[in-house]
Amino acid sequence: MHKSKIAGIGMYVPANVVTNNDLLKYMDTSDEWIQERTGIKERRYAHRTEETTTTMGVEAAKIAIERAGITPQDIDFIVFATLSPDYYFPGCGVLLQRAMQMKEIGALDVRNQCSGFVYALSVADQFIKTGMYKNILVVGAEKHSFGLDFTTRGRNISVIIGDGAGAVVLKPTEKENQGILSTHLHSDGTAAEILAMYNPGTHANHWLNQKVADFNENEIGDMFMSHDMIDKAQNFPFMDGQSVFKKAVVKFPEVIMEALAANGLQTTDINMLIPHQANLRIAQFVQQKLKLSDDQVYNNIQKFGNTTAASVPIALCEAWEAGKIKDGDLVCLAAFGSGFTLASALIKW
Ligand code: UT7
Repeated sequence: MHKSKIAGIGMYVPANVVTNNDLLKYMDTSDEWIQERTGIKERRYAHRTEETTTTMGVEAAKIAIERAGITPQDIDFIVFATLSPDYYFPGCGVLLQRAMQMKEIGALDVRNQCSGFVYALSVADQFIKTGMYKNILVVGAEKHSFGLDFTTRGRNISVIIGDGAGAVVLKPTEKENQGILSTHLHSDGTAAEILAMYNPGTHANHWLNQKVADFNENEIGDMFMSHDMIDKAQNFPFMDGQSVFKKAVVKFPEVIMEALAANGLQTTDINMLIPHQANLRIAQFVQQKLKLSDDQVYNNIQKFGNTTAASVPIALCEAWEAGKIKDGDLVCLAAFGSGFTLASALIKW
């Protein structure tokens, strides 16, 4: 069985920088509140009409493919992770396949929110291990700025989120001491509603005990997306921030320790931890709990906010470009988010 290695990596963030102070014109917030609670100073927003989740994914993918020393036509499978797709369906994978003029290869979309990229990497890793594919493109991309509640009502989540994309090319490696050592995936559906966008959807309040939206059962078209749902802001993400925070600080270290234990390694063996960029306070808590030094953890939420499925590949790419990840280093990727989902990966670079 082959191991897989990251043969090329790329990232793309939109040019439009939005500072905390820029948000004051939409909602009651402050630079001080955002920085103190989240560590975020600014984020990027995609161009409203010229950029989509897919086009940003394409830009990141071009760099990853070039760095892997191959062409888009060499890619034999796409895994695209996003929670903000261009269309409700079809997914971004096929749009990227078309935009990059790739062969008629398989394209799989992964909907695991903030854990999406690590889940996608794990899926791609299995295909490489079995020998089914040789050059897999894994993308995490998000255009959130199109669908956030920019009023004071939605401020707890809107100030955190940013747009961007990251991508890697996975290839088989013959080297004994290189590649993805293991991936670890978990979910806890009991917390599905603490971070979610309820509508449009097909649940018809089945899971919500009619608490969130009322609709007229006789009007069939009303149930997918109604004026009432829009009035109640159910077309925007909802987050019970404190519950997510409390879960994250317990579960995040667990999935990192699980990855280390599976490989007989210790926290001191980690050269670089790339945590999902959800909140700097969460990353710092994890760092303290695992007794990691500043050199062992990479954070860039200050510049880009939380880009959900794009956050891990963007941070990984930046850290690598800055020379903070070298051949032979042990890199740990870890993510948590809506679902509640958890994922980690250990990579010998
Ligand atoms: O990647 C997905 C996973 N998501 C996360 O990891 C997020 C985890 N949660 C968090 O990061 C934090 O819960 C938040 C940063 C979202 C919020 O911080 P918090 O310290 O938990 O604040 P809170 O929700 O308890 O709200 C405290 C106060 C409230 O006002 P009152 O009721 O005390 O008067 C909020 O209305 O802060 C208020 N508030 C804000 N004030 C200014 C909430 N959002 C804002 C805001 N600006 N943007």
